[in-house]
Amino acid sequence: MKGSIKENIISILESNKGLFISGEKLASQLNVSRAAIWKAIKALKNEGYDIYAVSNKGYALSKETDILSSKIIKNNMPKHADKFNLLIYKTVESTNIIARGLAINGAESGTVILAEEQTSGYGRNGKSFFSPYGTGIYMSIILNLKQEKKTFNNSFITTAAAMAVSKAIEEITNTNTKIKWVNDIFINEKKVCGILTEGAFSFEDGKIDYAIIGIGINVNFPKSGFPKEIEHIASSIHLENNNKSDIRNLLISKILENLWEYYFNNINFYDEYKKRSFLIGEKVSINIEGEENIVKVLDIDRNFALIVEFNDGKIDRLLSGSVNHKLS
Ligand code: BTN
Repeated sequence: MKGSIKENIISILESNKGLFISGEKLASQLNVSRAAIWKAIKALKNEGYDIYAVSNKGYALSKETDILSSKIIKNNMPKHADKFNLLIYKTVESTNIIARGLAINGAESGTVILAEEQTSGYGRNGKSFFSPYGTGIYMSIILNLKQEKKTFNNSFITTAAAMAVSKAIEEITNTNTKIKWVNDIFINEKKVCGILTEGAFSFEDGKIDYAIIGIGINVNFPKSGFPKEIEHIASSIHLENNNKSDIRNLLISKILENLWEYYFNNINFYDEYKKRSFLIGEKVSINIEGEENIVKVLDIDRNFALIVEFNDGKIDRLLSGSVNHKLS
């Protein structure tokens, strides 16, 4: 087995979640001493893994343990597991920052950075993204546009990601989701996911050669609640006291499978996207290049532009902008 003793132990215990595996069996499988196993288990427990150690039975990972695991994620990807390279971190400043560094150094499409926690997660318009430990999905996916000979089509990448997430949530949780153009995902009128797509310039030619899709999903209800400034607008997939079993790994699997279909296999998602969009027909305030405008949303066209009517009757096609749909 490749990887460190700790990684291998976690991988074995995860595939046998809730079951005891003896120290002797682990030692022989990994070809190390039982003392080395014991030392690694101690270190893992210190890192926060919920591992039972019972004499005569061995070690077991608690069933409730909800840790990000590339093994579980890939095991649940029947079609495209081999296309993705998953890099999982405990604590990072921001997965988008790590992704950018890897992208400019030539990382391939399908490189995915995941973290249990972000200390400086950020969203659009300079806002921070609340990313407490083990609570949400904080994920950045690298698209190597240069390698794919594709140009940076922000609307397409962003909407494909929004649909991939929206569909994954619905498939796993049986809950309806709505999409607020361009790519915020709502459940019961509260935001559960935000997406930030960034371009990374190549040093060689100064062009946008890489796109980084940063996806933040509030999965479990945060232990100390949401911060005051977002508690009225934010929600999580699991509601208070209902933090059921581990769904983060499963959601990630589905999101990546869906994204591959929409982005690389060009499966059309326009109708499904439009069906979930809740701004059509609404009067909204939209920030265009720093200026707030009240407009009526008429439609979303096939290039995912928002078709809006201004107060003076002028009709325009917008490819980006931040929408505030609650005008009261
Ligand atoms: C938004 O709602 O404005 C977008 C939020 C995007 C948050 C994600 S979490 C993973 C990635 N890393 C970040 O720092 N931001 C994105």
